[in-house]
Amino acid sequence: MSYKVAVAGATGNVGREMLSILAERQFPAREVVALASSRSVGVDVSFGDSLLKVKALEHYDFRGTDLCLMSAGGAVSKEWSPKIAAQGCIVIDNSSQWRMDREVPLIVPEVNADALDGGIKKGIIANPNCSTAQLVVALKPLHDAATIKRVVVATYQSVSGAGKEAMDELFSQTRAVFVADPIEPHIFPKRIAFNVIPHGGTFLDSGYTTEEFKIMVETQKILDPNILVSATCVRVPVFISHSEAVHIEFEQPITAERARAILREAPGVLVIDKREDGGYITPVEAAGEDATYVSRIRKDPSVEHGLAMWIVSDNLRKGAALNAVQIAEVLINRKLLKRAA
Ligand SMILES: NC(=O)c1ccc[n+]([C@@H]2O[C@H](COP(=O)([O-])OP(=O)(O)OC[C@H]3O[C@@H](n4cnc5c(N)ncnc54)[C@H](OP(=O)(O)O)[C@@H]3O)[C@@H](O)[C@H]2O)c1
Repeated sequence: MSYKVAVAGATGNVGREMLSILAERQFPAREVVALASSRSVGVDVSFGDSLLKVKALEHYDFRGTDLCLMSAGGAVSKEWSPKIAAQGCIVIDNSSQWRMDREVPLIVPEVNADALDGGIKKGIIANPNCSTAQLVVALKPLHDAATIKRVVVATYQSVSGAGKEAMDELFSQTRAVFVADPIEPHIFPKRIAFNVIPHGGTFLDSGYTTEEFKIMVETQKILDPNILVSATCVRVPVFISHSEAVHIEFEQPITAERARAILREAPGVLVIDKREDGGYITPVEAAGEDATYVSRIRKDPSVEHGLAMWIVSDNLRKGAALNAVQIAEVLINRKLLKRAA
């Protein structure tokens, strides 16, 4: 069985990564179509050893296409995902548009693939926020072992999480610092080069930002609605990979040694945790990798049963494109992806 797959947003950070992961994992596609805005029609994007000519999403006929991996932003997804699904094509969407919709499964395959068995009523499956994905991959096996009550997380998020123009902004501002040019922030609200910004998305009445709120509610939807979560999201001048400093409070006792042993066996997790100089992972080392890395596992003495740890993953891969392709693989394995053609 092989499938016709469209990648919508193929010229973007996530879309390009999707194309490369589909090729790397030899996804059973008989044809892959690259779609973006009409601005990009005719542009070449790489798919394995070949090049694909980009077509316009708005003029593409989805009849006969089995699967659409969508990474073109919330507004485009809001308009197009229902229309695409109505043509018999399953959409796996990377935006936040559908994540909290009760009829849309929000999936991280290592954590809650079974939620797909509840049905794909709208023909849309949501991929979580990049910071949520890596967090729940590490939390799930610990939750199974000792029941998590509460999570406090501070993120150190790379600029690629805000799109390709955000990466250009870090590059041009860094250059501007060295040549003493004036710096005008465009994508980020303040200068990002040689700085950190405690703000992602927009502010809510609660004082949290939308980026923080997403981590809080998505973790509950994917893992367990009883887990209390508080997040602080910080943008840092790193190109790829998000890092997270995480404090976890459990119902039952769990030692750092036991957590390390559990995480070593957990799907999608790699533990790098030597208590010595350099015995932990940094974002530069996680870039281009599939794993969610966990380091600095230690007791949190501020609560009765607590652990602290450092979690790092490539936000464009596990945080977006890889997770989407893994969802597609689950659909195939569970015979949930019917050929449209
Ligand atoms: N970056 C991450 O770590 C990450 C993680 C999880 C989820 N996401 C989500 O994934 C989505 C894409 O993120 P990104 O970082 O890849 O952004 P990006 O680099 O800015 O790319 C945006 C893509 O959307 C396309 N697009 C824009 N308007 C369109 C339209 N009207 N019709 C069709 N295509 C259109 C763009 O095509 P043109 O080049 O033609 O403009 C481009 O291919 C966003 O919803 C984002 O929130 C990102």
